[in-house]
Amino acid sequence: MDVSKLMFRDGLMEGERILVTGGGTGLGKEMTQGFLKLGATVYICGRRQNKLDETAAELMEKHGGKVVGVACDIRDAEAIHEMLDTIWADGGALTGVVNNAAGNFISRTEDLSINGFNAIADIVMRGTFYVTLDVGKRIKAEGGRCNFVSILTTWVWNGSAFVVPSAMSKSAINTMTQSLAVEWGRYNMRFNAIAPGLFPTKGMSARLNPGGSGGNSQGGGNPMGRAGEMHELVNLATFLMGPGAEYVNGQTIAIDGAGYQANGGTFWATLQGLGDAEWEQMRAMIKGTNEKDKADRAV
Ligand code: HXC
Repeated sequence: MDVSKLMFRDGLMEGERILVTGGGTGLGKEMTQGFLKLGATVYICGRRQNKLDETAAELMEKHGGKVVGVACDIRDAEAIHEMLDTIWADGGALTGVVNNAAGNFISRTEDLSINGFNAIADIVMRGTFYVTLDVGKRIKAEGGRCNFVSILTTWVWNGSAFVVPSAMSKSAINTMTQSLAVEWGRYNMRFNAIAPGLFPTKGMSARLNPGGSGGNSQGGGNPMGRAGEMHELVNLATFLMGPGAEYVNGQTIAIDGAGYQANGGTFWATLQGLGDAEWEQMRAMIKGTNEKDKADRAV
């Protein structure tokens, strides 16, 4: 990311204590960098402690400040509770949470096993809710404040073929965002979401465009003729997470170069013509990535 393109003044986020789930890699790492640069203390969680430590060290070396990695699989509500105890003991309550951790892979829906569906729904829908619930109960009990931003997709408005568990789960979190903005607004908590279009990351490309076979696989082109740039996403996340825009509550904001309006932002156009052999080949590539990640987690 080109940090010179960040819009906000230095020190804007001093005193903020933010948890970014899935903050060790991809979009989560970029947002972590943006918040840290503006003075926030950032906690990052993910399944690989080595990756979290590496990211924390890299970002602190670059910007100073404090990033702490806490290994936690958000599918496990007890592990979340322990992680939050650790964070609370390390300087007090959180003031912000970015629900960024996700799992996804392209597949024909008829090829999904129950485990395959659950692997995604347990991370994206249940895990995100577990984190939100545990933090929300603490804030309500203690009388603090907290700002929640969830990373969704434009599929929450129109669904998407070939990523049905993700589209369903992210839609559930869109509904959670709107519901809790109302229910918990009076406890000084607010809930917004971002629906990014294509911001290529390693984890995403390996599972949504394995082997690079589908090109820009969402809809076959974007009106702006390019993918999103990380600083654009980070600027929007900062606007929602930093102080100054507190009256924004219950909103899901797209940042996709109008891809959604142009072509629905889905995989239908590029994947609908694939045959059995091509799906088999992609499944093998995706599973290869999953196995490699699993081996990394075992280190
Ligand atoms: C069919 C598959 C499959 C595939 C996995 N499975 N890959 N089924 N096609 N390509 C099935 C497995 O066979 C197994 O079911 C079940 O899913 C669980 O697989 P595991 O590998 O054991 O799961 P696990 O190690 O828990 O990994 C979770 C994961 C993985 C979700 C499957 O992809 C992951 O860790 N992802 C995290 C990173 C990620 O996905 N990043 C991209 C997010 S992109 P069986 O029945 O065999 O036991 C994103 C962006 C969306 O969200 C927006 C874009 C605009």
